[in-house]
Amino acid sequence: MSSTASSTVSTRRVLPARNVLGSLRLPGDKSISHRYAMLSALAEGVTRLQNFSTGADPHSTLACMEQLGARVSHSAEGVIEVTGCAGHFQQPAAPLDCGNSGSTMRMLAGLLAAQPIACTLIGDESLTRRPMERIRKPLSAMGARIDLTDGHAPLTIRGGALQGTDFTTPIASAQVKSCLLFAGLQAAGVTTVHEPVRTRDHGELALRAFGAALTRTRDSVSIPGGQSLRAIEATVPGDLSSAAFFLCAAAIFPDSNLVLDGVGMNPTRATLLDVLRSLGLRISVMQLSEQHGELVGSIQVSGPAEGLSGATISGALSAQLIDELPVLAAIAPYTRDGIQIRDARELRVKESDRIALVAQNLRAMGASVTEHEDGLDVPGGQALHGAEIDSGGDHRIAMAFSVAALRASGETLVHGAESAAISFPEFFDLLDRVTER
Ligand code: S3P
Repeated sequence: MSSTASSTVSTRRVLPARNVLGSLRLPGDKSISHRYAMLSALAEGVTRLQNFSTGADPHSTLACMEQLGARVSHSAEGVIEVTGCAGHFQQPAAPLDCGNSGSTMRMLAGLLAAQPIACTLIGDESLTRRPMERIRKPLSAMGARIDLTDGHAPLTIRGGALQGTDFTTPIASAQVKSCLLFAGLQAAGVTTVHEPVRTRDHGELALRAFGAALTRTRDSVSIPGGQSLRAIEATVPGDLSSAAFFLCAAAIFPDSNLVLDGVGMNPTRATLLDVLRSLGLRISVMQLSEQHGELVGSIQVSGPAEGLSGATISGALSAQLIDELPVLAAIAPYTRDGIQIRDARELRVKESDRIALVAQNLRAMGASVTEHEDGLDVPGGQALHGAEIDSGGDHRIAMAFSVAALRASGETLVHGAESAAISFPEFFDLLDRVTER
């Protein structure tokens, strides 16, 4: 692989590979890093975090927390120390820049809604297009004053005393759930969030790790207000959504053999492993352990000699696999029976319209694909050729098509490859390390 970089936008050349072999340890999970960064800033005491995500998004969160009064330092050993504000944020002197990160904007809004300060949250062009009404409505019902700009950022929050609420999320969203739990933690009374589909529970686990009490039923979670948090020491598990690119790369080579160490195996995220197993990938999970409620393990995978079968992903599965759907769709032409994705309308309002961009880029590589409002049909048994890929500045699109390019004929040029750094700056180097050419 080689890259040509201008000041901000870079193009990566990805050549076909013969196999995927090796072992890797991945940087910390993005979702957990965001939550630990926010809660450590609210807590009392000094939190020490090892293997914090190297992605730009969680670092946007850390920068916002510093503006709110937390002290953040980076030790030589790679540990991030956050000295918390003991429940009281300071009035920031400037708008809080959430960069490309929807998680930062939505969850931070919940944290700030209960604080007697006024904050403006801004983001880049992509984040400014993403829907924010989903947090404004429930936070307003709790008593926060939030102004959006036509349903979007910039978002202004004038926080203050909140009242607990009982809210059913109309869309499956862990960001919205965490936002409300973070507000509920500081409200009067109890806040209950009912979710139609169980989404990732890192917010719940992180709150518990920092000392908060909450209760869970099958489809709801409740948090009593007026609780304070205390600092923790933690190692962030490797990011399973980053691992997904390597697992899918291994899946498309029958003789592959890959070991990923220290990966987060939280059951609300690990649906990916079930889907890959059902496609035919041989997967073993070893050395399972738990820290602060988060499961961690090593994953060993080898490609199926008989090739990949096919899958239909819909309903709750689509919500649980939402970040992995682009790469699953990108490798779908190499399966025997194809992959159908439905109930994934949320993909249209991620960092890009991921349904449209996946379809466009698959077609550029010579595949036939049918686009639906809420998903895609990608037939199997199709050979791909190298092409020019438009990442749309979206990290998961850039990485998904770099994986698809490994089995295409000829070279692929991934435009906007620098966007991988939003979640996974080491992606291209690690991909080079495990691909045989
Ligand atoms: C995330 C939840 C998901 C996911 C995002 C991270 C989180 O978004 O797509 O990358 O950390 O809670 P939604 O909750 O909006 O579906």
